Amino acid sequence: MTVEEKLGQLQQLAWSWDTGPGGGETKDVEEAARAGRLGSVLSIFGARSSNALQRIAVEESRLGIPLLFGLDVIHGFWTTFPIPLAQAASFDPDVSRRDAEVSAKEARSNGVHWAFSPMMDVTHEPRWGRIAEGSGEDPYLTAAFAAAKVEGYQGRGRHGYGAKDRVAACAKHFVAYGGAEGGRDYNTVDVSESRLRNLHLPPFKAALDAGAATVMASFNTVGGVPAHGNSHTLTGILKEEWGFDGVVVSDWTGVQELVAHGFAEDGAAAARLSLNAGVDMEMVSTTLREHGRKLVREGRISEHRLDDAVARVLRLKFALGLFENPYVDEDSAIDGPTAAARRAAREAAARSMVLLKNEGGTLPLKASVRSIAVVGPFGDSDDLLGTWVVPAAAKKYPSVKVLDAVRRAAPDAKVTYARGVTPEGTSTAGIPAAVAAAEAADVTVVVVGEPPALSGEAAARSDIGLPGAQERLVRAVAATGKPFAVVLVNGRPLTTGGWLADAPAVLEAWHPGVEAGNAVADVLFGKVNPGGKLPVSFPRTVGQIPVHYNHESTGRPYDADNKYSSKYLDLPPDPQFSFGHGLSYTTFEIGAPKLSRTSVPAGALHAGDTLEVSVTVSNTGDRAGDEVVQLYVHDLAASITQPVRKLRGFRRVTLGAGRSTVVRFRIGAKDLGFWTNDPHGEFLVEEGRFDLYVGNSSTAKAKRTLTVT
Ligand code: IFM
Repeated sequence: MTVEEKLGQLQQLAWSWDTGPGGGETKDVEEAARAGRLGSVLSIFGARSSNALQRIAVEESRLGIPLLFGLDVIHGFWTTFPIPLAQAASFDPDVSRRDAEVSAKEARSNGVHWAFSPMMDVTHEPRWGRIAEGSGEDPYLTAAFAAAKVEGYQGRGRHGYGAKDRVAACAKHFVAYGGAEGGRDYNTVDVSESRLRNLHLPPFKAALDAGAATVMASFNTVGGVPAHGNSHTLTGILKEEWGFDGVVVSDWTGVQELVAHGFAEDGAAAARLSLNAGVDMEMVSTTLREHGRKLVREGRISEHRLDDAVARVLRLKFALGLFENPYVDEDSAIDGPTAAARRAAREAAARSMVLLKNEGGTLPLKASVRSIAVVGPFGDSDDLLGTWVVPAAAKKYPSVKVLDAVRRAAPDAKVTYARGVTPEGTSTAGIPAAVAAAEAADVTVVVVGEPPALSGEAAARSDIGLPGAQERLVRAVAATGKPFAVVLVNGRPLTTGGWLADAPAVLEAWHPGVEAGNAVADVLFGKVNPGGKLPVSFPRTVGQIPVHYNHESTGRPYDADNKYSSKYLDLPPDPQFSFGHGLSYTTFEIGAPKLSRTSVPAGALHAGDTLEVSVTVSNTGDRAGDEVVQLYVHDLAASITQPVRKLRGFRRVTLGAGRSTVVRFRIGAKDLGFWTNDPHGEFLVEEGRFDLYVGNSSTAKAKRTLTVT
């Protein structure tokens, strides 16, 4: 290969879906493919179009190296599943595994080899729009979902993604993107080494252990060094410490942006700094292609590093089977969601819903109800897919509407609809009609929240309450004194302070995907008993952010009777809804946890010894339901101040009325230890006492103490 051909393999250009500024022309892509100066294309899909472009690379370029096609398959290709944040609320990683399996099959049959997913940025910032794409505020939960999604995309085994129904996964964004200051997208991140390793890195390690073939660099700085030029994170940790031998792709123009960061003087410096730091493929910007030859000639980029990056890209193409079979079978391209895929999406959405509040058994709605009013801007909306949906899927397969599904679920009831207000508008002109509808009905379902465009990339909000006049609508319905339930559709935690007290029942449905309405109706009418739990805390007000369960201990912890303690004068210390919270239509009791041993030597833990924490969970109500049993650890004294609690186990169980089961967790060194500030990676399990809490949310009270000797 010539140097130009090698640099070509490191170039990725965009086809028809611009997911960043300035994507370029498709004819430039074809020319680059023909000249052998292109390795990959993003955002091309469809068996015929991808084959046509592939033919240029394979049949017209000098070396005939096939192109690699990547796409943002985030929570579905044709079949849009609930947003990833919702999936995390299921506390069932199989939900994400199924999403990824369905997505991989649909995408690969349409020429896509590589999904830019899973996103695993842990965040304590609900203002950040991209919170919708990840699994929330906890690294342990995020790691479990990241691994499941990688397995779903790639299949099991090192190169399972060579199969015709699988795609290569991309662990993104490396790293600490969720730490963006103020939740403003692309903003600065300043983390200590220990926070980097304890909070942000574990999901990436889990994804790579599950075999993730690629990693995407993040837009933020980490301690002043942009992630795209950060040799400590990209080479030191990822490639050397963890031995990652796959491809690191830049984010969209992320290499060129080193100039705007004030880290590189010009494009040539950006190319040099990013390749040398460990980026292997440049997305959209073309600094390497433009300056690479000169940089190699001048010795600013070593041939060795260039060859390493090229080898990574070629290995991926070999593992995907592209050299043997560069084309897809146009006759077998899947052209829409199958009935089975829709069933999986509906089940996933219902499993992801969280019952936040349910006074007086407002929900489930009785089958005998004679009239139902559906009100609110999202009651009659087919735009509940959420952020990052493949454009053709959004057009051809929009969401099932709540109104239609309620009508189907209650065929004998009179179902009326009044929008009341628009999603973001401030006009209250439609509220009287909504009030009249509520007054005339036995029960009202108020569907409010955020339109999908208010979450996702570049969609930070400074106020995370219900947009526009929606709160007025909820309050007006409440003032009728008639029973009602609020269904929230949103891509992030919302502040609910103004109206929550007035609402007897609140169901958090998130952005539920293509089967939205059906899944909402399944839960509203009790066909599905909700069992989801919050993967993220819901703040009381924006001023309370960051508020998350896994905060570190302070020297003056909250004490209502002590002025000099850590608190806001005008707010209680806890969030509106805590991490792990979620109700059911039945009731559960979780007994006192038992430990197989109450003391264990640190050395034995390091050598692989584990102990068992067990607990009995009983369904004490009168209908079957799901409970998520959660295990939290608190290291009482350590050489680095520890979070007050860390999730270290969870299990979602289904129990019939009156039934019990014993849930067992095994914990060992990885659950009790922590990473220090050593940049070379030091993991310690220190002697001392550890409180182990077990319950059904992060506020669980029942605990046992373990001593590590
Ligand atoms: O994959 C995405 C990334 O998450 C954000 N910027 C654009 C990329 C490609 O679309």
